Amino acid sequence: MIQKIDHIGIAVRSLAEARSFYEQALGLTCERIETVDSQQVRTAFYTCGEVHLELLEATDPESPVAKFIARNGEGVHHIAFRTDGIEAQLRAAESAGTKLINAEPVAGAGGNRIAFLHPKSTHGVLMELCAPSGDASTD
Ligand code: CO
Repeated sequence: MIQKIDHIGIAVRSLAEARSFYEQALGLTCERIETVDSQQVRTAFYTCGEVHLELLEATDPESPVAKFIARNGEGVHHIAFRTDGIEAQLRAAESAGTKLINAEPVAGAGGNRIAFLHPKSTHGVLMELCAPSGDASTD
């Protein structure tokens, strides 16, 4: 079951430059910087109430985030839903005819297991499902 919006992913060209906006202009505090190899990104996390912001900087020019920026420029990249059962959620989406980018969960930031749904199936929004790695239903 989807529990809440966990975070909004924002593609940026330079984490350092974007951080200076988020920290100096908005006054937010960066909680952690983390490289996520499976997604070829370096991320910076901020908390805004119950929702996090995940800034994404590509670590490889051929990575999905680099291609996204080349196509669309910087901006909102994905919306992530927290679910208490990522496998079941993925199978339900698949059964409903949704095109999956990740047929099985992969390692995401913050020790989460994540999987993306293709924007062609979601009315134009890249969607991520995420669950803590301790999620029993994913074992
Ligand atoms: Co994300």
